[in-house]
Amino acid sequence: MSSLLIKGGRVVTAAADHEADVLVVDETIRLIGSNLEMTADRVIDAKGKFVIPGGIDVHTHLSMSDEKDTTADTFASGTAAAAFGGTTTIIDFARQERGRESPLSALDRRLSQAQGQCLIDYGLHMVITGISGTYLNDISSLPARGVTSFKLFLAYPGEVMVDDATAFAVMRVAAHTGAIVMLHAENGHAIAALTAELATQGKLSASFHSKAHPHLTESEATQRGIALAQLAGAPLYICHVSSQLALEAIETAKTKALNIWAETCPQYLFAAEEDYADLGFEAAKYVCSPPIRERANQVRLWQGLMSGAIAVVSTDHCSYRMQSDLPDLGLQKTMGRGDFRKIPNGVPGIENRMQLLYEGGVVAGRFAMSRFVELTSTNPAKLFGLFPKKGTIDVGSDADIVIWDPDPISTISAASHHMRVDYNLYEGMRVHGSPTVVISRGEVIVEGDQLRASVGRGRFLACTTPAVATTNQENQMLEPISP
Ligand code: URP
Ligand code: ZN
Repeated sequence: MSSLLIKGGRVVTAAADHEADVLVVDETIRLIGSNLEMTADRVIDAKGKFVIPGGIDVHTHLSMSDEKDTTADTFASGTAAAAFGGTTTIIDFARQERGRESPLSALDRRLSQAQGQCLIDYGLHMVITGISGTYLNDISSLPARGVTSFKLFLAYPGEVMVDDATAFAVMRVAAHTGAIVMLHAENGHAIAALTAELATQGKLSASFHSKAHPHLTESEATQRGIALAQLAGAPLYICHVSSQLALEAIETAKTKALNIWAETCPQYLFAAEEDYADLGFEAAKYVCSPPIRERANQVRLWQGLMSGAIAVVSTDHCSYRMQSDLPDLGLQKTMGRGDFRKIPNGVPGIENRMQLLYEGGVVAGRFAMSRFVELTSTNPAKLFGLFPKKGTIDVGSDADIVIWDPDPISTISAASHHMRVDYNLYEGMRVHGSPTVVISRGEVIVEGDQLRASVGRGRFLACTTPAVATTNQENQMLEPISP
């Protein structure tokens, strides 16, 4: 039995903010109280610091390969970088191979790939790309295997995009099983047509990527997804909201009390099209989908975080290097030199999420520390069936705790980050606050700039069906059916 006593910190959860001591025994929180007087194997003085639940990043792409390339960050490097940033849980994706594979074998494949590779605990969403044969039945048995979120892409035709019939069928299974549907909301057909038009005009440099993804391609797919989910009676989580127009569609749905949840990511809050419009191929650093929009959108996204319209900040961490210089990787972003269509989509950020949101949210005075905790940890845990094991500081919860020092000021840089990418989107940005001690299931895994644990200790988390999936039943226009 091991014990750890965290003394005198300001314990902040989504619901409370008070000074307390926290006793951890083995992997769980045993006691929270004032002036706890007991011996422990280790005592950490947290005076003047926040004691918060470990961050949960529910949108990551680690060790992700397709025909074109592999992400630079592996499960090992990505989860270590996450830990340095104060994140103690990720949820990544298993992906059904182009509709030709049972989701169950896709899950087995991904589980064996992640097994023994992660530093922190991890869950999986399932990307559904097809429903032929027995696949709908297989999807309905995913929750029993700990996968309670089904991701659908309305973008990337010929790759992972599904048509409305498939989307609706999967949403019906979600409604029936209590799973939540995640949506990549962009109109893939319109984007393909606009991309072809740009190509015929010779407009293929990196910054034209965003011109092929106008706001309406995102808001149309957002509205369509909301309508289909409402019709199916399924809870819906809209990934990486980037624009004011898409956010307005979500806000409208929320005024009708629909079971709709939204996520945004640091790249949409801190980077802007104006930053890369004139950068030539350097703009490839910013290429992701939906694209990083004009700066004016940031104001509305921050308002969404303040009002509750946006519930989660995750990263969509999907890292590709600007150089093609590592033997285990392909051409990375250089694949698209001179042709934005070939630039692998995705940006890094798993390590910087907590510091960035603390800076833009708490330090900037937009919201309190408890809202910061809610956005980075509690809501993700609740929406994906990990609460209260994860996402809070409570007796019986996993001891995933970050001791957050509000004082230090650091400069974000690729020279000092731990992600396996050769650039940082936020290079040179000065941020307050630092996760000085990061604890995962009672084990100190990061202390200052030192990694104190080894990859492989992270465990697969079987997610339960989220509470949101069983509330708001009145929103269901149809009775749930068996697939
Ligand atoms: O550009 C992005 N977001 N790449 C990652 C895959 C996805 O679309 O989520
Ligand atoms: Zn993604």
